[in-house]
Amino acid sequence: MESAVRRIGVFTSGGDAPGMNAAIRAVVRTSLHLGIECIGIRRGYHGLINGDIARLDFESVSDISRRGGTMLYSARSREFIGEDGRNKAMATCKLLGLDALVGIGGDGTFKGLLSLAQSGISVVGIPGTIDNDIACSTYTIGYDTACNTALESIDRLRDTMKSHERCSVVEVMGHRAGHLAVAVGIACGATVVLVPEHETDFESEVAEPIRRARIAGRTHFMIIVAEGVTDGAYGVAQRIRDELALDTRVTVLGHVQRGGSPTARDRMMATYMGYEAVRLLADGKTCRVVAAKGDDIVDYDITEALGMTKGLDQRGLEVMRALTGVRKGL
Ligand code: F6P
Repeated sequence: MESAVRRIGVFTSGGDAPGMNAAIRAVVRTSLHLGIECIGIRRGYHGLINGDIARLDFESVSDISRRGGTMLYSARSREFIGEDGRNKAMATCKLLGLDALVGIGGDGTFKGLLSLAQSGISVVGIPGTIDNDIACSTYTIGYDTACNTALESIDRLRDTMKSHERCSVVEVMGHRAGHLAVAVGIACGATVVLVPEHETDFESEVAEPIRRARIAGRTHFMIIVAEGVTDGAYGVAQRIRDELALDTRVTVLGHVQRGGSPTARDRMMATYMGYEAVRLLADGKTCRVVAAKGDDIVDYDITEALGMTKGLDQRGLEVMRALTGVRKGL
């Protein structure tokens, strides 16, 4: 059956994430496989407004899956939020003869796609962010690499913290969510993990586990703080110094977590999701978000997806509480 679309525009938007290139490659190659032309839009919605495009063919996406960042660049566009910006973006779509768009990014990217769909263009979103904070999807592109990158740094920190018998307070990214912090905390065997979803009771959730670990013989401590936590890593570290008299150092991992060659999991998920996005468009579908449901790839209506909520990994929290001896529930 002939495809419902002839020319797709693909772009990445918001914070970049390792694996975005693999998704771009899958979108381009699947399009070509189905006889659809694919055009790259550079710098997200900013590029859509300004007609900033990249010609994409089979060879131009060769050997990009293993590279971090995004070959199409990324941006957060203020102009696009206004009606004027959206009209300009739509005018570019018409000028380029695009009848469909694939946007790789987070909720902001999906909202933008939805607003353009109202002007008649078909749209599909792919979840790409290291934060894993997209409610409809159990997994987002870049999350696994970011976890591993953070873990590698924390393992190094642990060596020096152990030698000096110090307390390490490490801030990980995650925007307003604690998914990355919980995963990293479990994987590195942290004494404490603090997340923005839950207001911290310092005494029972920080001081007490540290004291208990001290009594058990531990002389160094690893505290993971998600960037969205109210007191921040520096505030938490100061209280640890003041109330527990521990020699404490803060490390903010920051944008290091967004870089690097994507892991196998990120490359594979990105490839499946890119393939699925084009398949949906070719089948005449629109306003969909491709999502992971465990190991499966599924899709949701964008409005429905934006209305969903996502809690933290309850099993992970339970395991962590058991292993650190924290009794109070998160
Ligand atoms: O959404 C990805 C993310 O890295 C968040 O974890 C972080 O809060 C934010 O982007 C940082 O954004 P920027 O790159 O604009 O500093």
